[in-house]
Parts: sequence; structure tokens; C-alpha cells
Amino acid sequence: MTRSVLLLPGDGIGPEVVSEARRVLESVNERFDLELVFTEGNLGGIAIDLEGQAYPESTRAVAREADAIVLGAVGGPKWDALPAADRPERGLLAIRSDLDLFCNYRPALLFPELAGASSLRSELVSGLDILIVRELTGGIYFGEPRGITSNAEGIREGFNTDRYNETEIRRIGRLAFEAARRRSGRLCSVDKANVLEVTMLWRETMESLREEYPDVSLSHMYVDNAAMQLVRQPTQFDVLVTGNLFGDILSDIAAMLTGSIGMLPSASLNAESRGLYEPVHGSAPDIAGEGKANPLATILSAAMALRYSLSAADAANAIEQAVASVLTQGLITADLAAVDPEATLVGTRAMGDAVLSALQAQ
Ligand code: IPM
Ligand code: MG
Repeated sequence: MTRSVLLLPGDGIGPEVVSEARRVLESVNERFDLELVFTEGNLGGIAIDLEGQAYPESTRAVAREADAIVLGAVGGPKWDALPAADRPERGLLAIRSDLDLFCNYRPALLFPELAGASSLRSELVSGLDILIVRELTGGIYFGEPRGITSNAEGIREGFNTDRYNETEIRRIGRLAFEAARRRSGRLCSVDKANVLEVTMLWRETMESLREEYPDVSLSHMYVDNAAMQLVRQPTQFDVLVTGNLFGDILSDIAAMLTGSIGMLPSASLNAESRGLYEPVHGSAPDIAGEGKANPLATILSAAMALRYSLSAADAANAIEQAVASVLTQGLITADLAAVDPEATLVGTRAMGDAVLSALQAQ
């Protein structure tokens, strides 16, 4: 049975990193006989330039049929002056919403070789393996009303609305409990229930799921404390579940602990396990086109696509092992330069080549 993979290179370093992920996917496609069929489309700034919209109709039509989508990154200074509603980032929010990709997994795993590149001392991050489960299609990112208005005196006011209903909280909660069950059985739900009603309901609803998962130990933490604990003693966490905005912020913090945001993959899934897979990093316009970007987060995102949407866990494991072995060989890209003076600095293409050779050597 063929399965379709849509590649959306996007902007900045997106095309460079997605082309390495594609080579890796093509290689496992052959080796594991996966019958993957690849198509490419536009999303973000490139789509605005070529098709007049950040999430054009042509992309939407293919995305709705795809089994998995691998995205690079969107946005850049070229489009910064556009009104909020027309910016490249809105394309990303639109595709998440259109495909109902409410469940965002952001694993923060420390590869032992990269401990030296962490923003924390290595003894604090040794063994770090956190999964952030971020709700991705609700909360303040999508809540209405929103906008900027002017009052009678002409003073402008900006406003957004943070809202979640119980159904939305329950469906992300269940997936987080299930993830915790597959891991160490510890789940920490992050909220601001001491101040915000929306997260009081979040906390109550998470509590109400407890009885369905007697084998999982659920705790709650306020988001300010969670941010502090992530930089104080991050290894206390296993699975974190939280809303859209808090998840955005906490996942960037967690990324830094692992050495580089250039290492972190993510999966955004809907209820049918079809999904969009993208690195947590952005489009890095300052190094775009220079062949310096780290492709590993995108390659690891492709591995997540194989595992969660393409029923090819063997191929996913093979890619993850290949990435680990490339790091063991001491290869690094510029974002990891702090790691070890002895390490060999390589560019995007050479890093992709190294992963391909490691795959072939298995
Ligand atoms: C992320 C990004 C996006 C978000 C932006 C680019 C819209 O920061 O995926 O974390 O805020 O969700
Ligand atoms: Mg973010």
C-alpha cells in the first residue's frame, strides 16, 4: 500500500534541512520497502510570494490527503512588515488548524555527546529525556475575540482570548496520559490555575482523567514554577502536558537544555494519527542558504513521521540510531560548536551524507 508524504520546505533554512530529510526518507523507503510517495508544496513566505497566500489552496488539497507532512520552517524578515493576518506564520497556524493537529509532541532528549553544549552544567542534564505534550489548535493562539481596536480617544488596544473547553482538554489529556504510560508513568500538567479560569478548568479536567489511568501518577505545576524547575533540575520531569502558549515557551527552554534547538524534532497529530512533522527551530534567516544549518532536527522529525503516521517503527529506529552514531563519530554542525573542541565541524549536506552512511553501515 503506498503512503503519501508531503514535503513543505518553507523559508530560510527550511529547504536545506528538508532536502536532507528527504534523502534519508528515500533511503529507508528503499531499504524497508515502505512504498512512500513524495510530493512537494509551498507553505509560509514562499507560498505568499508564489501563490499569494501562506497556506494556499493547492497545498491544502494535497495536505488533506497526505499521510504525513514534513515541514522545514516558515517566516523571515522579508515578510515581517506584512499585517499579522497575512504573515507566513499564519500559514503554519492555518495548516495545524485545518488538519486538526491538536496534539504536539516535543521530545527533549539529550544525546550524551552533546552534554557540553547544554546551557546548563552537564551534571544537571545528564540523562535528560522529557516529552512535552503541547495542545496545538486551541487556547490563546486561536481564541476569539482577538484583534486591535481603538477607543473613542483613538487609543489602540490589542486583545486575545485564552479559551479551552472540556472536550479539547480531555482529548489532549488522554494522549498525554497514554504517553506517560508508555514511558515512566509520570505526568505533570502545567497551568496557571492560581490566576486564570481557563487553566482552572484545565486542572480540574486533567484531575478527572486520573481514574482512567490509575497506573500514571499525575501532578500539577504552575507555569512560572515549571519554567524555573526546567532550568533548576530538569531531570525531575518525564511527560509534561500543557496548553498552546505555555507549551510554546517551555519547549524552547527544554530545547536549550539539550545543547541546541537544532536537534529537536516535533510531531503534530490529529485524531487519525495523520500528522505534520517539523523541527522545533525556526527559519534562521541569518544563515539561510549558507549550507551551515543542522539538518538533524528535521531528520529526526522524519523518523517521528515514520513511527506515528507511517507505521514504520523499524525505519524510525534505524534513523534515530544513525543520528546517534553520527554524533558518536564526533560530527557537529555550527550550532553545536560549543560541544567539544575536538569535534569535526560539518555543513548541512555533509551531515546528511553522514546519516546516510551510518544507515548504510547498519
Ligand atoms: C513553534 C513556533 C510557532 C508557534 C510559530 C512560528 C507560529 O514558535 O512551533 O513553536 O508559536 O507555535
Ligand atoms: Mg515556538
